[in-house]
Amino acid sequence: MTTQQTQTQTEDLIFPPGFVWGAATSAYQIEGAVDVDGRGKSIWDEFVRRPGRILNGDTADVAVDHYRRYREDVKLMADLGLTAYRFSVSWPRVQPDGSGAVNPAGLDFYKRLTDELLAHGIEPWITLYHWDLPLPLEEAGGWPARDTAKRFSEYAAIVHEALSDRVTNWSTVNEPWCAAFLGYASGEHAPGRREPAQAIRAAHHLNLAHGLAVRAIRAQSSTSKVGGCVNLYAVSPQTDSESDLDAARRIDGLQNRFFLEALLRGSYPDDVLQDIAHITDMSFVQDGDMETISAPIDILMVNYYSRFTVSGTPGGAASAAAAPTDSGSPWVGSEHVSFVNGGRPVTAMGWEIDDTGLMEILTRVAKEYPGIPMVISENGAAFDDVLTEDGSVHDRDRVAFIDAHLRTCHAAIEAGVPLQGYFAWSLLDNFEWAWGYGKRFGLVYVDYETQRRIPKDSALWYAESIRRGGLRP
Ligand code: NOJ
Repeated sequence: MTTQQTQTQTEDLIFPPGFVWGAATSAYQIEGAVDVDGRGKSIWDEFVRRPGRILNGDTADVAVDHYRRYREDVKLMADLGLTAYRFSVSWPRVQPDGSGAVNPAGLDFYKRLTDELLAHGIEPWITLYHWDLPLPLEEAGGWPARDTAKRFSEYAAIVHEALSDRVTNWSTVNEPWCAAFLGYASGEHAPGRREPAQAIRAAHHLNLAHGLAVRAIRAQSSTSKVGGCVNLYAVSPQTDSESDLDAARRIDGLQNRFFLEALLRGSYPDDVLQDIAHITDMSFVQDGDMETISAPIDILMVNYYSRFTVSGTPGGAASAAAAPTDSGSPWVGSEHVSFVNGGRPVTAMGWEIDDTGLMEILTRVAKEYPGIPMVISENGAAFDDVLTEDGSVHDRDRVAFIDAHLRTCHAAIEAGVPLQGYFAWSLLDNFEWAWGYGKRFGLVYVDYETQRRIPKDSALWYAESIRRGGLRP
């Protein structure tokens, strides 16, 4: 070992000044108060009431009561030393019908929340859409209907107008892949439709919604920073066989390239269009849409959780994408592909833990789309946390998970990737969609009976890392 190597290993891994140390949540997963202050209904309010759709029949009617406890939660964030907090605005709180009249009480909540954050020196990062589509818009066709994208841009303009005096960082649509393919193809998520052709239309209109919202924000301000948020996976073929390689190309195509290429290059990949050609043509894409979708953004928000290992042979081992309740396949056009065990340790979601996949994703985006700054807008893990008698949660697995992924972020920055920050998913244990309260992702444990917040060891470790500005050797 050279002297230089020895030195590197004994020095802290310090992140560049200004690196954003954050945590993230979303409105429906934490707020509760679904009938309060004029909030309308979203597709999730309806979906959670359908028998068998959510594990244990859970709903987010109360969730973690953040709507009422936001001050306590901001205090928690301040105690952790977070420099930023990523949260979403609930569209049905702001516009109960999804169009038309604005509900000032809904906007007021987000004003109070952002003021509280700023008062504690925490930068608010707003996500405009984290899956809670106003129910009347679904009844009018949902995301497969082009009009929904138009409605979204109006809503984006309303929220931006109200909050841009105090919020700089904006993201449009969270994980359009999930909203489109879990919502409209597999039916695992609201609105629970299993209509593959409609899912592709939905994906396009979610992209269009992003582009129209970017345009609406730019029209109001030259100082706001705006980006889109994609969930990217590393994808490996199980073997080098032609069919496994093709499976990896397909899954990478629908999961990653369909969205990256649209947002950053203004086109859909030809091979993906071929994969789905027997399901739908793309005649719903209108002239000018791709230019709108690829309007320049200031930052790309990347959510990263895992790697998929795939096989072109149907019936491979347990699916990494398995849903908790009965649902179809989200892999439109590639239903024959199976998700196989890649041999790595898994989280409580069954997702394989692999920080090398994060490196792969970051270096790939940096190389293929040079110059676009990124943040990790979500990264984290569910584990079966145990609250001990002395009132602590020793979540060593989560500490190891976040530590490994942050090390990778550091290495990526050293390798020249323009990565500006990291948001842990999630600040608090919360409503994990189809899994209800059955999976805990929080840095902070929530006792759902009493709503007591208990920082887990991972929260204390994260706070210490933030104070240090980096990680121990
Ligand atoms: C991505 C989603 O944005 C978030 O809502 C979800 O809870 C996490 N992944 C974990 O599944």
